[in-house]
Amino acid sequence: MTFKKNILCIGAGYVGGPTMATIAYKCPQYKVTVVDIDSERIAQWNSDNLPIYEPGLDEIVKTTRDRNLFFDTDIKRGVKGSDIIFVSVNTPTKTFGAGAGMAADLQYWEKTARQIREYAQSHKIIVEKSTLPVKTALAMERILTSSDNEISFEVLSNPEFLAEGTAIKDLEYPDRVLIGSRETASGLKARDELVEIYANWVPRERIITSNIWSSELSKLVANAFLAQRISSINSITALCEKTDADIIEVARAVGMDSRLGSKFLDASVGFGGSCFKKDILNLVYLCRHYGLEEVADYWEGIVRINDYQKERFVLKMLSAMFNTLAGKKICLFGFAFKANTGDTRESPAIFIAKRLLEEKAELVITDPKALKNAMMDLYGIHENIRYVEDPYEASAGCDAIAVMTEWELYANLDFEKIYRSMGKPAFIFDGRNILDHTRLFEIGFNVFPIGKPALTHF
Ligand code: NAD
Ligand code: UGA
Repeated sequence: MTFKKNILCIGAGYVGGPTMATIAYKCPQYKVTVVDIDSERIAQWNSDNLPIYEPGLDEIVKTTRDRNLFFDTDIKRGVKGSDIIFVSVNTPTKTFGAGAGMAADLQYWEKTARQIREYAQSHKIIVEKSTLPVKTALAMERILTSSDNEISFEVLSNPEFLAEGTAIKDLEYPDRVLIGSRETASGLKARDELVEIYANWVPRERIITSNIWSSELSKLVANAFLAQRISSINSITALCEKTDADIIEVARAVGMDSRLGSKFLDASVGFGGSCFKKDILNLVYLCRHYGLEEVADYWEGIVRINDYQKERFVLKMLSAMFNTLAGKKICLFGFAFKANTGDTRESPAIFIAKRLLEEKAELVITDPKALKNAMMDLYGIHENIRYVEDPYEASAGCDAIAVMTEWELYANLDFEKIYRSMGKPAFIFDGRNILDHTRLFEIGFNVFPIGKPALTHF
């Protein structure tokens, strides 16, 4: 079969895999190849056990794989044979040198640019899918055009807004697709080629275009605003707990103002995930780079509140359980950074598990999808942790349960059975406010929600 165009994606991760599977699914006329340096990951993409769990992903990969979707390790062949190259490699926070702990580590990104330059034999459109600091496209252009060959490149910015756990739905029905380009004739032509791909399934009015720097910046700002809402509501949970106000009631009252909206106001033990913290720190670093100290401080406050919320949760457990956790058994319900994913990157559960271990508690960790990642996150800490998939078995004999992830299954457990199997007094710390607190109290638990009065038998 001859395809209309050949699309390559470099980086077969949480973004590259689902995004390209969706393009292949919606556009059978395009050939889509996804390459990665991680051969094990590529082998998993080619197997029945995909490397990531995402509702709906298995089905679309099954439909498209080896039809017009291919996973490969041969980057050279991929680059040579492609017309459009998406780059969705990881851009973590730098851990060394200048900007350590703040700036984006662009080493993987830059390596990709050099590989494209080395292997390309014809004109290519390069699409920034990864989240990047503003002006990265300029650096990309400079690398691509710094060789003697005559090959031309056009760099576009097309940030991804999917959230894990709902990636396929977000990709099928995006609020918007953003495409930033240079405003030159060739820039606009490349932009239109990318618009044409998305227009196969996204309503035209949802595909928005902008200049390339606005597009790069919009991605950082969107994540900063989303995280800001969580830190805002989480900061108020602390005040609720001091004043007997109820965060659920406050969030409802605030969110019913149509100017504010009700989404993303679920108080929690803190936000996690690979991006919010990294992207805010990236924004903060950029602001400091341009001498905008007040702006940087403002956005950095969101990360500070998130750290405070996680520590506050541990201190609440400590004080509720008579100021000592040493030797006590605590069961963590959930380890993923949110429900419906096995991803644990920056999960608040990692911080809380480590802090509880510091307090010499014994941990039992349960999660329907994330136990393997949890073991890797806590690798090297062998003592005092058990990993048990069944929540009943996991909580039996424990003194406390702490809900870390809002998996629906936890709301539907038989808590009378769980209560009977636990040590007494039995505690529940609901870091996601997903349980029926009154009912738990009636069963006999001492219940500590987030941002709501505690229900205790003392
Ligand atoms: P990831 O770590 O899951 O995947 C990145 C992949 O790139 C890895 O498999 C890695 O092996 C591969 N890679 C690195 N260098 C390579 C190279 N030179 N050649 C080929 N492959 C290479 O990361 P992710 O979660 O998919 O995120 C990718 C980017 O997308 C990041 O910039 C992130 O901020 C952004 N983003 C992520 C999400 C999300 O939900 N995870 C959402 C929107 C945007
Ligand atoms: C987030 C954004 O929602 C995506 O638009 C963006 O593309 C992505 O980051 C990215 O750039 O990586 P994601 O981190 O996958 O997506 O998941 P979210 O649903 O945003 O949740 C992030 C964290 O905030 C989770 O720990 C979640 O439990 C927490 N959260 C979310 C709350 O504590 N309260 C809420 O009301 C919502």
